[in-house]
Amino acid sequence: MTERILIVDDEKLIRWSLQKNLVHAGYEVLEAVDGQQALEMIEDEGADLMLLDVRMPRMSGLEVLAHTVEHHPEIPVVLMTAFSSVEGAVDAMKRGAFDYLMKPFNHDEVLLVVRKALHATRLQRELALLQQQQRSEFGTDNLIGKSAKVREVCQLINKIAVSTATTVLVLGESGTGKDLTAKAIHYSSNRAAQPFVNITCSALPEQLLESELMGHEKGSFTGARERKRGLFEVADGGTVFLDEIGDMGVGLQAKLLRILEEKTFRRVGGTKDLHVDVRIVAATNRNLEQAVREGNFREDLYYRLMVIPVEIPPLRERIEDIPLLITHFIDRFNVEFNKKTLGLTSDAMDCCEQYGWPGNVRELRNVIERAMILENKEYLDLEDLPHALRAPFEGIEGSGLIGRTDTAVFQLPDCGYALQDMEREMVRQALEKTEGNQSRAAGLLDISRDSLRYKMRKFGML
Ligand SMILES: Nc1ncnc2c1ncn2[C@@H]1O[C@H](COP(=O)(O)OP(=O)(O)OP(=O)(O)O)[C@@H](O)[C@H]1O
Ligand SMILES: [Mg+2]
Repeated sequence: MTERILIVDDEKLIRWSLQKNLVHAGYEVLEAVDGQQALEMIEDEGADLMLLDVRMPRMSGLEVLAHTVEHHPEIPVVLMTAFSSVEGAVDAMKRGAFDYLMKPFNHDEVLLVVRKALHATRLQRELALLQQQQRSEFGTDNLIGKSAKVREVCQLINKIAVSTATTVLVLGESGTGKDLTAKAIHYSSNRAAQPFVNITCSALPEQLLESELMGHEKGSFTGARERKRGLFEVADGGTVFLDEIGDMGVGLQAKLLRILEEKTFRRVGGTKDLHVDVRIVAATNRNLEQAVREGNFREDLYYRLMVIPVEIPPLRERIEDIPLLITHFIDRFNVEFNKKTLGLTSDAMDCCEQYGWPGNVRELRNVIERAMILENKEYLDLEDLPHALRAPFEGIEGSGLIGRTDTAVFQLPDCGYALQDMEREMVRQALEKTEGNQSRAAGLLDISRDSLRYKMRKFGML
């Protein structure tokens, strides 16, 4: 796309020479003879860059600049001035100009500044787009779940995100979504444009972890050949995610507490206090209270972190989220593996709903992923689930009955599955006929909407 440059100058000769130069370099050029015309052109035709003379009759360049900065901050403005005063130039930058050119200027100089300005705004646009994508990729919309507990967690995350709280503790068993939560807190907040850095406290010995977090001065220990900035500095203005905080050494815990309380720290080997503005999101799957009792976790740090706890419940306490998560993962892996799986058979779904999921959502994801890699079925069945899940169901396999059959008194060798299949097919057809309208589909089947939804959930269609 050809980039459009607006030249604003009351001197015809300057406009003419700039125009010739820029058109030659491949740009599209608009010309305005004064400020008023410039602002009208921006409104009517838009521009990717403005070259703006400072001294003009009627409206001055600085007035045009102020208006543009306010109403079209996406358009970089390069001021052109005949007065080589450094103060004036600095002042112009402070007022929001991207750069300035001293008259008289040569063509190369102009092209250089123009390229630089256009490049910088392109980058800025890309960054804004990326941030927007990240926001939608990592925001709370990605925390799948309709259970009251998950909804509560999402509400809390959104509240924390826009608050000034600088310390958050995310608690939950392994695989419940603590990483996801930490990212959602960051990317939904006004810190989203600043870095999100994460480090797993258990992954490094204490001294290395300290140097990683706080940075170090040159020569502070063997191997410290250069001064290095730590993650707290890198993340200034953003969020530091300290995963597995329960594994952090007690010595480092004291330094962390100081950062939380005073927002200052020192590099390893440093003598100067450094100030940072970071939000710290810590997470653990350990029982911190117990760690405090056992003397492995500082009590003062514990209470500081516990000011805002976000507790993510284990999957077995929110069974109603299971079908939703399964559908979510099936959709994802259908795309990833190019498959056409539609759902789970009701047996498989029952089995998933009754299993305890010690590895929580991660385990569920892995189970679906594995089944979809191995199978090309429309409906994944019991046999496609790992043995650990199936075990309670296996005694009845082959009986043709569905779900728990311990109360069943008669045997229907082959019809059980067929009945289920027919039911599923009828539900599917009813929904197809009514283009997904659940009330009308329920009407067609002569059942209540609630029963329809129950069946849809059972068949993994919801
Ligand atoms: N509510 C959810 N919706 C969608 N995906 C989820 C949800 N919760 C967890 N996941 C997925 O489950 C997997 C594990 O989540 P995550 O890594 O956030 O868990 P964790 O609590 O940090 O685990 P660990 O304690 O092992 O570090 C990830 O693939 C994540 O995307
Ligand atoms: Mg994690």
